[in-house]
Amino acid sequence: TSVDAATAIDACVRPVEDWPVQGVTFRDVTPLLAAPDAFGAVTAALADAVRELRPDAVVGVEARGFIFGAPLALELGVGFVPVRKEGKLPADTHRATYALEYGEATVEIHTDALAPGARVVVVDDVLATGGTLRAAAELVQTCGAQVVGNAVVLEIGALAGRERLADVPLVSLRRY
Ligand code: PRP
Repeated sequence: TSVDAATAIDACVRPVEDWPVQGVTFRDVTPLLAAPDAFGAVTAALADAVRELRPDAVVGVEARGFIFGAPLALELGVGFVPVRKEGKLPADTHRATYALEYGEATVEIHTDALAPGARVVVVDDVLATGGTLRAAAELVQTCGAQVVGNAVVLEIGALAGRERLADVPLVSLRRY
């Protein structure tokens, strides 16, 4: 693609000060989603970076991990599996509770969503403290599958989420 992913992220991810709480700068990807060249460049860059990990499935974390994870899975030719906030998945689930940058959350995965031993790449829009991706990894492991990498559009460097995910490769297209 002709658009560089890091350039597209700088141009199209909007910082929103003091949202959702005072002192937090929220990185809003909605302008990037609305720009097909930028969205395409980001999807292609994620696919190029994780292909060598030979994933059997892409796990996307609610909510914006769905948006980036679905086209990534299609691009790689593998299935997409959602990790959802509690109470949303209809069949039998595993659960994990974790602390967020602001607040707390419980996430779930269908118990039959991943084949035992499956190689999984977990995708989200933003890495902050790493709590969300750690919880997703716990769910993947509870399913008997293995996380072979994490992939995010951007990371908040000051929160050191990367250090909590150091057991597997981390793909991050931009650091703020
Ligand atoms: C944001 C972001 C990641 C998570 C990163 O989600 O989309 O999922 O926080 O933070 P962490 O690395 O500290 O865990 P948010 O809490 O805004 O939930 P939403 O996607 O449902 O809006």
